[in-house]
Amino acid sequence: MADSRAFYATTPIYYVNAKPHLGHAYTTIIGDALCRWHRLLGDDVHFLTGTDEHGLKIQQAADAAGMAPLAFADSIAPLFADAWARLNISNDDFIRTTETRHRLGVQKLLQACYDNGDIELDTYRGLYCVACEAYFTEDDLVEGNCPIHKKPVEQVEEENYFFRLSRYGDRLLKWYAEHPGAIVPDYRMNEVIGFIKQGLLDFSISRTSFSWGIPLPWDDEHVTYVWFDALANYITAVGYGTDDEQFARHWPVDFHMIGKDIIRFHCVYWPAMLMSAGIEPPKGWAVGGWLLVGGEKMSKTTGNVVNPLDLIDDIGVDGFRYYVLAETPYGADGDFTYEGLIGRYNSDLANNLGNLLSRVATVVGKKCGGFGPRPRPDSALAAAAADALAETTARWNEVQPSRALEATWQLIRATNAHLETNEPWKAEPGPDLDAVMGDALEALRIVAILASPAVPDTAQAVWERIGMPGAVADQRLPHAAAWGGYPGGTSVVKGDPLFPRRQL
Ligand code: MSP
Repeated sequence: MADSRAFYATTPIYYVNAKPHLGHAYTTIIGDALCRWHRLLGDDVHFLTGTDEHGLKIQQAADAAGMAPLAFADSIAPLFADAWARLNISNDDFIRTTETRHRLGVQKLLQACYDNGDIELDTYRGLYCVACEAYFTEDDLVEGNCPIHKKPVEQVEEENYFFRLSRYGDRLLKWYAEHPGAIVPDYRMNEVIGFIKQGLLDFSISRTSFSWGIPLPWDDEHVTYVWFDALANYITAVGYGTDDEQFARHWPVDFHMIGKDIIRFHCVYWPAMLMSAGIEPPKGWAVGGWLLVGGEKMSKTTGNVVNPLDLIDDIGVDGFRYYVLAETPYGADGDFTYEGLIGRYNSDLANNLGNLLSRVATVVGKKCGGFGPRPRPDSALAAAAADALAETTARWNEVQPSRALEATWQLIRATNAHLETNEPWKAEPGPDLDAVMGDALEALRIVAILASPAVPDTAQAVWERIGMPGAVADQRLPHAAAWGGYPGGTSVVKGDPLFPRRQL
């Protein structure tokens, strides 16, 4: 694909101390839909996810399960891979930090920072939260506890190697000033800049108190701090340390999709680590809010964990994906409710999209002999379709899936309104009716393409039922969505309702 633009996006790698939950699914589905959108644009997409398997937190979870850490990680990592397969996640790779390719890349990165003089031995005393795998200052604490987990922190004193983050404040500020759009939504940029301006502290990148990690290449008494190890997955998975050609093709990454809780690691530590090693910083970060349950962040500790796989048994993969993408503006916190899930499903999927397909197929079956008529070049719907394409594209570019879907759904609404105005179900067969139905079929064809990143199986079903050949995912924008692509004469099939209405 020499002539296509490379697009590389990542999710965070998930800790294997917990099973996949709704919060993990949220971040992963948004990354997936964004990547599917870029595939429609013809980009050469590489979408990475994986698991974070080293560090004290995982060692403790393995101890509690009475298992060796690697055996423990081996038992959990497939649960993530399986969950993503069931959610129709189109990742091109899945990295585990216990893989050899990762170890080699981490050691190369460490060595590069060390050789550059940015890693030095020092003694550290501090307050540590194992759940966060992070140090806090007294000021960070809330009522003496970790501000995130609300649990006591531990006094830790260790001789560690430190990364001299304090040397990178000005370089980071300069870099961000030169790349003003790098973080979306843009209000998150202010938070990062503010944090850097407060003054950056060096952070320790090694541990000697336990052994579950990657040994430092120059001192095997120390294992690598889990965040240094984990962040490196974004380069080790695309060949850093093992395949220079692959690395050059994918790096720098277009978007790290992350949650707001890990913004400092990703937007401050990580670009500084890369600069130290002489590697370009990421091109972009997309920072999502939390999907809360009952107003709280989901966690094993709080006991409010929702399993996404239970929800898809109930509402279907696309029903769930659509809810996640459409319900909350990206960046803001959302609150998951079952009522919200059913409400979205009934209004947007059953009433709008499902109903449109079923009306069109019914009338074509009864009054056009089951074969779709051609659209009119000058249809009033053509302008609505052009608007939907332009607006949907603009919103995906801003990483605003809820707004992108809103723009796509405007075309569905306009097409339903077009049918209600023309009432083809009451009209006699003939050229006027054919024209109305041809327009509606063309609009549905365009809707199928534009909605496919969010609801891939549904989009394919619509595509097939209106008689289009091949895969909707193989269409290429913008030309595939230009008005007039529906050829007419295809067999249109009603089939079972795509989204039977649901009761609460
Ligand atoms: N392992 C680290 C990330 C390392 S990336 C180099 C980690 N793992 S995690 O499993 O705890 O969570 C990963 C991310 O999942 C969170 O940082 C956040 O982005 C996302 N979410 C976890 N719970 C979430 C919600 N309830 N809502 C939305 N996203 C959430 O942190």
